[in-house]
Amino acid sequence: MVLKQKKNTKSYTPIKKIKLLSARITRMKVLIDKSIAEIEAFNIEDLKSLEDFRILFLGSKGRVKNLFGELKGVPNEEKREVGQLLNNFRALAEEKFASFKDQLENTATDSAKIDASRPGDDQEIGARHPLSLVRSEIIDIFNRIGYAVSEGPEIEDDWHNFSALNFPPEHPARDMQDTFFIEKGDVEMALRTHTSSVQVRVMENSKPPIRTISPGRVYRNEAISARAHCFFHQVEGLYIDKNVSFADLKQTLLYFAKEMFGEKAQIRLRPSYFPFTEPSAEVDVSCTICNSKGCNVCKYSGWLEILGCGMVDPNVLDACGIDSKEYSGFAFGMGIERITQLKYKVNDLRLYSENDVRFLKQFTAGI
Ligand code: PHE
Repeated sequence: MVLKQKKNTKSYTPIKKIKLLSARITRMKVLIDKSIAEIEAFNIEDLKSLEDFRILFLGSKGRVKNLFGELKGVPNEEKREVGQLLNNFRALAEEKFASFKDQLENTATDSAKIDASRPGDDQEIGARHPLSLVRSEIIDIFNRIGYAVSEGPEIEDDWHNFSALNFPPEHPARDMQDTFFIEKGDVEMALRTHTSSVQVRVMENSKPPIRTISPGRVYRNEAISARAHCFFHQVEGLYIDKNVSFADLKQTLLYFAKEMFGEKAQIRLRPSYFPFTEPSAEVDVSCTICNSKGCNVCKYSGWLEILGCGMVDPNVLDACGIDSKEYSGFAFGMGIERITQLKYKVNDLRLYSENDVRFLKQFTAGI
């Protein structure tokens, strides 16, 4: 009987123990479930509530730590299951904390939340217009050999644009440059067709030696197309001193071509006609695109026309008050668009004045 009782007692005890343990697991499950619900409902709005969340769940006296503490009392057979539940619970708390921390940092507005060590946002910088880039380059090249820059008005009188430059009245040479005429009071004025007009002003107002270049906008009455425009830009040069010769002109232009297009550039001069120079020439530079082998830009000739030039006609010197028996000089004139076209391979003149940012943006590197 005793034995029997003993046996019974022995077998009864574990059952009771298991029941007690099950009760403990259930209590922990309830606690974990409750905490999960709390985590889900927790409203994190700012750094302060984020910190409250951390203290409540992840802090050294927080919920995660406490529940893990209770794991010690769980018997070995149950540890696995409860441990799993606790791990999931901790992961959930950490995940919520990390994602809200991220969110808050990204929407931070006050300076305390700004990370000053992060790289700044890109600022879009403007680009200089290609014509300005090339004009500056031309000016630089001539500055280096002593040329000063002179400027003058875009609305000119007949004298400075034509008569002083040896265009006789009614002479057909005036038709070479289709002119926009405008009435100013009862005087007929013109939009200058070239910046030679500025050089007339320089000659009238100063004494040789004169070394000057005149960059500026000029106007001609032409239909607008890819190859012609009613306004464009020029740089004209003038050199007057005693004994200036055609050889000086040639050498100056060769220097310019090499500076502008590279050491290998060559020039050739073809006879031409301008009323204000005698003799006159047109200047070609060796084709930089195909190295003079022949391509569609140089029309398979190996040469590209870049400017007009000549020895200043004695009539012009005299008209401007310079003694042509004592002094001689040369002049040249080039279109900035033409030089830019050759340098940057832009084939449509209209692009220069349409201000399309997709075109202009490509010149940022030239600043
Ligand atoms: N003025 C001329 C033009 O506009 C260019 C030129 C200048 C030619 C000086 C010869 C000498 O076409």
